[in-house]
Amino acid sequence: MVKQRESVTQLPAYVQGKSIPGAVKLSSNENPYPPLDPVAQVVRDLATSIQLYPDMGAVAVRERIAEHCGVQAENVAVGAGSVEVASQLISAAAGEGDEVVFAWRSFEAYPILVRIAGATPIMVPLTADDRHDLPAMAAAINERTRLVLVCNPNNPTGAGVTTQELDEFMAQVPSDVLVVVDEAYVHFNDDPNSADGLDFFARYENVAVLHTFSKAYGLAGLRIGYAIARTDVAENLRRVAVPFGVSSLAQQAAIASLNAEAELDERVQVIVAERARMVEALRSSGWTVREALGNFVWLRTGDRTPEIDAALREHAVIARAYGTDGVRVTVGSAEMNDRFLAAIAGVEAV
Ligand SMILES: Cc1ncc(COP(=O)(O)O)c(C=O)c1O
Repeated sequence: MVKQRESVTQLPAYVQGKSIPGAVKLSSNENPYPPLDPVAQVVRDLATSIQLYPDMGAVAVRERIAEHCGVQAENVAVGAGSVEVASQLISAAAGEGDEVVFAWRSFEAYPILVRIAGATPIMVPLTADDRHDLPAMAAAINERTRLVLVCNPNNPTGAGVTTQELDEFMAQVPSDVLVVVDEAYVHFNDDPNSADGLDFFARYENVAVLHTFSKAYGLAGLRIGYAIARTDVAENLRRVAVPFGVSSLAQQAAIASLNAEAELDERVQVIVAERARMVEALRSSGWTVREALGNFVWLRTGDRTPEIDAALREHAVIARAYGTDGVRVTVGSAEMNDRFLAAIAGVEAV
């Protein structure tokens, strides 16, 4: 056998949301809508020039993102999805002997990315009501800590972090530890008290923000996400990025999406309204559903998780089951959500 890093052979594989032909797939927090015409047109136009490498510096898209976020292009680093940018952030900050703190349960790529970097994940349990336990996370920071990930709203539980909570947390974080606010679902977050990552970036030297085009913008298949970070951090992200990792199609589709923000926002509002309908329907049939601020709903089903997952599958509805913690159901189109509500109607509420 050839020599391989021990830590790599022990990595758990990232589990992709299942998809079964004919079934309703509500397992990957995807946008149910096909691309907008101008976005699809950009991709078609570029189909005849895919023999060429993309712009490695991603200049045009970084400038457009900077304009959108009210920052400088130097503050923007892109990657093949925000998961790759998260990986850049972790690799740039942490290696062997270093620690990365984040809540658990949260986005399942975090512990994998931390281990790939050779660092140690410090997973701080959520509170009993499935929110970030920021005081416990602050207490977990020590001299080995290089980075903290705060997922707002949290995947898979849907709970948010308020401005006040994050300010109190930041007051306890050493100024040389980077806090990354992962806002993959920010467009669906309608809580006025929620912490706003860009506001925190403006106010704290050691905050970076992670955004994606995969969710509200519906470009999951093209792979593009970005970080907003201080110039020195953003420069390091570009250093650790895989060269040419973001295709021309992804770069141009992202620009077209930012230019079509109003139409995309209409779709986001439909998803937010559908989320409210699902939560309401579940609550009125006895389910305990807490805050849902992403494009998904979290059911804390505990030991009954495998049973409930199987019951949904019997009705050809694929949700995402997490061990014996709970089930996450993506908000799809009205039709898809109706299929889910019909399937769950036969299940005893938790
Ligand atoms: C919290 C969070 N961050 C980041 C991502 C990564 O998304 P992408 O790599 O498609 O941008 C996801 C995807 O599900 C997520 O849930």
